[in-house]
Amino acid sequence: MKKIFLSALAISLLSVSCKKAPEGNSFIADNIANAVAQHTLQTDIIEKSGKILNPKTIDKNGNIVYIPIDDWTSGFFPGSIWLTYELTKDNKWLPLAEKYTESLDSVKHLKWHHDVGFMIGCSYLTGLRVTNRPEYKDVIVEAAKSLSTRFRPNAGVIQSWDADKGWQSQRGWKCPVIIDNMMNLELLFEATKFSGDSSFHNIAVSHADVTMKHQFRPDFSCYHVVDFDPETGEVRKRQTAQGYSDESAWARGQAWALYGYTTCYRYTQDKKYLDQAENVYRFIFNNKNLPEDLVPYWDFDAPNIPNEPRDASAAAAIASALYELSTYISDKGYKETADKIMNSLGSENYRAKVGTNGNFILMHSVGSIPHNSEIDVPLNYADYYFLEALKRKKDLEQK
Ligand code: GLY
Repeated sequence: MKKIFLSALAISLLSVSCKKAPEGNSFIADNIANAVAQHTLQTDIIEKSGKILNPKTIDKNGNIVYIPIDDWTSGFFPGSIWLTYELTKDNKWLPLAEKYTESLDSVKHLKWHHDVGFMIGCSYLTGLRVTNRPEYKDVIVEAAKSLSTRFRPNAGVIQSWDADKGWQSQRGWKCPVIIDNMMNLELLFEATKFSGDSSFHNIAVSHADVTMKHQFRPDFSCYHVVDFDPETGEVRKRQTAQGYSDESAWARGQAWALYGYTTCYRYTQDKKYLDQAENVYRFIFNNKNLPEDLVPYWDFDAPNIPNEPRDASAAAAIASALYELSTYISDKGYKETADKIMNSLGSENYRAKVGTNGNFILMHSVGSIPHNSEIDVPLNYADYYFLEALKRKKDLEQK
């Protein structure tokens, strides 16, 4: 079975290596048109259902998988609709973006995992940036309060997962922190801006600093999970959950680190965060296992490279982060690298034909191979970061 999967994968990668994306302005226009076409199909299905559905991926039969609002990915589809509005300025997207976003209102009270930053950030915060809806600020501040309940002051970190529930309870952790948590800090920084309450900002800074100290190896690759003793702050374990092994470099984790420290620099102007983002960049782009097209395998140390699935979601988040990084450091080719990633993702190798792929934009992402879940599939967060990167690219090129 595994053999058939691997050879099918090799054939699919081989057969697409010569198909290119259009260049220059037409690249942006072409990708906007494609997103509009896919999102039109996707939202037509949702609207016809009479419900508010939140698409995440497809199952083994190609059926669209919809998720409940407490899934960590619930903010991405609403966020993609905001980005589609922002890219097109077509008012038809506005009521849909509002409706899908506002269906997540109760997520602001969610306290049992850390992902409220992704969920409320990508939906409400994107909505607030795109259109002025002051009432969204209250949701963001409330969500930041919920996230802050997970702050463990003696360790100086936000606890990512509860250690007594689900599969996490099998691991013997006390206060697991995952690198993904860096993506939740933007919500805290924004909440301080809206509320004047500096405690959110201070928690974000503490989390970023402790993560920088304990979650990285000397080569600036990062561990996926660091387990802390919440009483003493000591590190108990450094492990993985979604990567190949405890000592490997899970691709999306490296993307979250790059993106997260770039974001921290935006809000603090503290150069150590910029330096950290550049250190992560160097790890990723000097890695011998990074393919020519710059779309990483799901783990930089996966055992069967080159016969391993790629992770387009990691590539999209890296591209988006690099566009921002290029606005702080313009002479190191970060934009050009991001452009190269986008050209790969926008090519037929990764971008699905309209009406296929469950109407998601990108193919070939990986949720979690160790959990045998979502392998070589579309994922709503790959699409979100691809569109965010497209918007950032457009803005940079219009300047
Ligand atoms: N935050 C979970 C993931 O990146 O898969």
